[in-house]
Amino acid sequence: MSGTQTWISANLSYNNSKSGIIGDGRYGVVFHGTFFDQNVAVKRIQQIDVNPREEANLRVLNHDNVIKLKWLEENETFRFLVFELCASDLDNYLKGKYKGQPIKLPSDVQVLLQLSRGLDYIHTKNVIHRDIKPGNILISKTDPVRMIWADFGYSKLTNNHGSTSQSGFRGTHCWVAPEILRLRSNSTNARSSKQSDIFSAGCVFFYFLKPRIHPFGKENSVEGNISRGKIISADLVANDPVIQVVVIPMIAHKSEDRISLTKVIEFLEDPKGIPAAFETMKTKLSESTLIKINKKLIWISTLLQQEKKTGWTIQAQVIKKSQLLLMESIKPGVPPTKYFFVELADGSGTIRARACTAKNCDKFYPLLKEGKEYFIQKSTLTALGEERILSLRAESEIIPI
Ligand SMILES: Nc1ncnc2c1ncn2[C@@H]1O[C@H](COP(=O)(O)OP(=O)(O)OP(=O)(O)O)[C@@H](O)[C@H]1O
Ligand SMILES: [Mg+2]
Repeated sequence: MSGTQTWISANLSYNNSKSGIIGDGRYGVVFHGTFFDQNVAVKRIQQIDVNPREEANLRVLNHDNVIKLKWLEENETFRFLVFELCASDLDNYLKGKYKGQPIKLPSDVQVLLQLSRGLDYIHTKNVIHRDIKPGNILISKTDPVRMIWADFGYSKLTNNHGSTSQSGFRGTHCWVAPEILRLRSNSTNARSSKQSDIFSAGCVFFYFLKPRIHPFGKENSVEGNISRGKIISADLVANDPVIQVVVIPMIAHKSEDRISLTKVIEFLEDPKGIPAAFETMKTKLSESTLIKINKKLIWISTLLQQEKKTGWTIQAQVIKKSQLLLMESIKPGVPPTKYFFVELADGSGTIRARACTAKNCDKFYPLLKEGKEYFIQKSTLTALGEERILSLRAESEIIPI
């Protein structure tokens, strides 16, 4: 080390010059240093800015994918936290700012797996990180490379339910869960939790896999989109099995809907299962899209009680197509009306359905298959005594399920 080195104790020194600075954060400055004869990172924090929890939590953590506190010194003005010297943080790496020796990053899945294991370990020690972002993930200089969770400056111990009280807005805006953002607008008793860490980790995983694209959009709109649960980059990843199966469930809007880290690890440890899970998911997705299209899915019994009978959708199964020629069809000039019978998904029995005119009949009748289920919308329902009749009109729509 050059002449700018400052000795903190007999075995610890740091390069207290501009060239010695590795990182400059909100509370600390991180310098190149020497501890015995090892190159290390020395995080220098003003005594007034010290968060005792950072040190306390670091002391209990001991995992390959979590930064290890090697040593601690202090003087009147500063605390000095000594860490393994890493090659880069993930943000600088992804932005191409890292200029050192080439880094042999493990496969994408391995990177996510290491980070998931590290975070799961942190949570098993009842610590919530609360400031997850790419700048707080380090890439080791070792071979093989390790991904490392760092910066426990905001971390907190949880209660028995896995959450911790939150007295104000914590974390970095772009990466925090919606329930934490809500804290700013109304100081309800929202608590940061393991699930809010999982949300942030999911955003970071996305940012890593689709380099530098945030799932919730650009910096000026990202907070609003997180609050509304609006994933901006959804189209981009519609066909990406890892993102769909692992990452999107991590950034679910409601904390209780988020995937657990145990499940994430299970997928990543055996990634062969991911494509199969994706196929199942796609089927479910298309079903839920259909239901979304047919927002006004309604029970027949409710429908018959309503005066206004438009704009609704029913779900029904065609049980029998009928070729009967009925009374009106044999009247001169009146085309035959074909009927079919549908079984209703609401369990209220069978109803007779008909296509009102020959034109409608030709349009719908050939499409219907006995035994298949459909969403039927924009038709008319009438009750004639005990009988209920569903009439298909020109504008009616029949969507197979
Ligand atoms: N052990 C390390 N090895 C290499 N670089 C490090 C190490 N620790 C920290 N850094 C670098 O220093 C930066 C700041 O460190 P850290 O996140 O711990 O401080 P901070 O003051 O809490 O930062 P912020 O408030 O911006 O998150 C990191 O983003 C990283 O680039
Ligand atoms: Mg930091």
